[in-house]
Amino acid sequence: MRTKIELIKLAEQMPKTELHLHIEGTFEPELMFKIANRNQIQLPYQSIEELKAAYQFNNLQDFLNIYYQGMAVLLTENDFYDLTMAYLEKVHSQNVVHTEIFFDPQGHLERDIPFDVQINGISKALEDAKVKWGMSYRLIMSFLRHLSEESAFATLNLAKPFLDKIDAVGLDSSELNHPPEKFARVFQECRELGLKITAHAGEEGPPEYIWQALDCLEVDRIDHGNRALEDTQLTAEIQKRKLTLTVCPLSNLKLCVVDTMEHHPIQKMLQVNLNATVNSDDPAYFGGYMNENYKALIEDSNLTETELYQLAKNAFEGAWLPTSDKALYIAELDKIFHQ
Ligand code: ADE
Ligand code: ZN
Repeated sequence: MRTKIELIKLAEQMPKTELHLHIEGTFEPELMFKIANRNQIQLPYQSIEELKAAYQFNNLQDFLNIYYQGMAVLLTENDFYDLTMAYLEKVHSQNVVHTEIFFDPQGHLERDIPFDVQINGISKALEDAKVKWGMSYRLIMSFLRHLSEESAFATLNLAKPFLDKIDAVGLDSSELNHPPEKFARVFQECRELGLKITAHAGEEGPPEYIWQALDCLEVDRIDHGNRALEDTQLTAEIQKRKLTLTVCPLSNLKLCVVDTMEHHPIQKMLQVNLNATVNSDDPAYFGGYMNENYKALIEDSNLTETELYQLAKNAFEGAWLPTSDKALYIAELDKIFHQ
C-alpha cells in the first residue's frame, strides 16, 4: 500500500483535467496589483499582504464581495489575456492537460467592459496554451444568479456572435434565494443553441435546488452538489443520469461549506457511485490549485489509491471532449498508475 506521501506524488504526476474553475478566481494578488497599477486603479488595500489578510470568509457571500472587487481592475483585452495565461502556465506546471473554465461576463459588463474585450482576451490565451503545450480546453459562460432573468437574456444576446468560442453555460454567484428555476427559460434557449449546461447547485443551497437544476435546467453536469447526499432519491437520480459532480474541496473548506477536510463528503460520494471530481474553483482565494486540492484531501482523509484514480478518471469521463480524446487521456492516466 502506498504512503500518503507517495499518493500526493502520484496526484502531482498524473495527468489531470479541471472542470470547475472561475478564471476571475485565479487572480493572484501580485498580478492584481500589477494590473491595477497599469490601469491606474486604486485597490482598497495598501499592500499584497493586506489584501491576502482579507481572505477570511464565513460563507459564499463574504467571498463573492471580494471576488467582484478584485475583478474590477480588469479593463483591456490584454488584462484578460494575462489573467488567463497566468492560470494556464500554473496548471500546465501541475500536469493539467485539459481545462474547462468559467467566465462571468456580467461582472464585467456592469463595469462597461464590452463582451468582445473579455472573450477575445480569454480565448487568445486558451488558444496559445493549446499551441504551446497541447492543452485542450472548453469555455463556459456563466450567468450571475443574483441578477435578473432579463439580464441573463441580454447577456446571451451579446454572446450570440461569439458562439463559436463558447461551449457551455453555467450558473453561479449567490445561491441562497436564487433557485435555478428563475433561469429555466434562459437555459432552454441555451440548449436550443446547442450549448452544454451546468449549474452551481447544493453548495450552500438545499437539495431542492439540485432537483431544479436537473428538472428545470436539464443540466449535463452539477457544480459542487455537496448537499445531494442529504436526499437519497436525489442521489439515485444523479446516479441514473450519470451526471458528473465538480466538487471543490479547498473552496468548501474556505467558505465553511464543511467544517474540516476530514468531514468532506467526496469519499462518501464515490462510495455511493456518484461521479465526483476534484477542482479548484477560485484557487487564488482558496489556497491552492489542483495539486493542492488533492494534497489536502490525501493528507486529511484516508483516500485510497483506487479512489484517487477514480477521481482523476471521473474528470476525464465528465469532460466535454470527444470519446476518442477521453480514451487517450485515460490511457495516459493508466500508465502513471500501473507503472
Ligand atoms: N463564483 C465564483 N466562485 C463561486 C462559487 N464557489 N460559488 C458560486 N459562485 C461563484
Ligand atoms: Zn464555482
